[in-house]
Amino acid sequence: MNLKLPDKLLVLMKISGKTTVYGVIGDPIEHTLSPLMHASAIEKMGIDAVYVPFHVRPDELEHAIKGIKALGVGGLNVTVPHKTRVMDYLDNLTDEAKAVGAVNTVINHDGVLTGDNTDVYGFTRCLFVDGGLERFPKRVYVIGAGGAARGVVYACAKSDEVSEVVVINRTLSKAEKLAEELSAVTGSHISAMPAIEETFSGMLSDAELLINTTSVGMYPQVEHSPVPYPEVFHEGQVVCDIIYNPSETRLLRDAASHGAKVVGGLAMLAYQGARSLSLWTGMEAPAEVMLDVLKQEFGQ
Ligand code: ATR
Repeated sequence: MNLKLPDKLLVLMKISGKTTVYGVIGDPIEHTLSPLMHASAIEKMGIDAVYVPFHVRPDELEHAIKGIKALGVGGLNVTVPHKTRVMDYLDNLTDEAKAVGAVNTVINHDGVLTGDNTDVYGFTRCLFVDGGLERFPKRVYVIGAGGAARGVVYACAKSDEVSEVVVINRTLSKAEKLAEELSAVTGSHISAMPAIEETFSGMLSDAELLINTTSVGMYPQVEHSPVPYPEVFHEGQVVCDIIYNPSETRLLRDAASHGAKVVGGLAMLAYQGARSLSLWTGMEAPAEVMLDVLKQEFGQ
């Protein structure tokens, strides 16, 4: 008899006493794309593991983290709103996690929990692989000064090729604070500018690399752009948006139509995930498989 079982059931049937559990914690968690991309990668790698979402409310975070030690969960991704507070409950932090002040990956090695920030790696890889960048330019422009900006600014500032990172933000004081903090950590020159027309028209004409880390343009406000002056874009630029929904934002459409090379947030999402899976398993995770499944999900 040829039984046709739903995919989910087939996955469950493969679980044994030796299966390693990985997962993601967040609040909310129901829209996470991580199980989709990790399940595809786990299947491709042929390893005995599952990846599950855990809805963890803020007041349960400490119990949840202690619980992964007790349960022997192999590793976790950490998403909003736990990325900073989770640091209080871990045994070690990598330099990236300390500098960025946020953890998106917890590795459980024999009961010792290490917090890392693989967004830094994911961002850099997407610029060099998908953006076709061969080296960082001397000056990099980052729009936004929130949590997501910190990883991006850190990744750029710690590169020897970069002599200045310019943080452009609606609220100038936040950009100044971020610039001061990450200058101290990286020893690099980081400056702050207000997100006003003069900044964009004056500075972006010579910009080789610009990255949006704000939520401007994210679904459902898909017609908004953090740079509402499309004439500043030109050939020879790389413009990156860490937003992945929509996979092509208004910013990227404007930049591409003026000849700039554009990189969307799906690649960064896939590469940070692949890095987490590599850290947990000690094996190279198939980043391209993870990116492909995300692209399919977004109808690309
Ligand atoms: P995240 O952790 O995703 O980075 P965040 O910490 O809330 O989220 O930061 C959001 C970023 O998007 C900030 O830089 C914010 O600018 P302000 O510091 O001025 O608040 C920026 N942002 C959000 N909505 C914006 C809007 N409508 N126009 C311009 N910037 C916006």
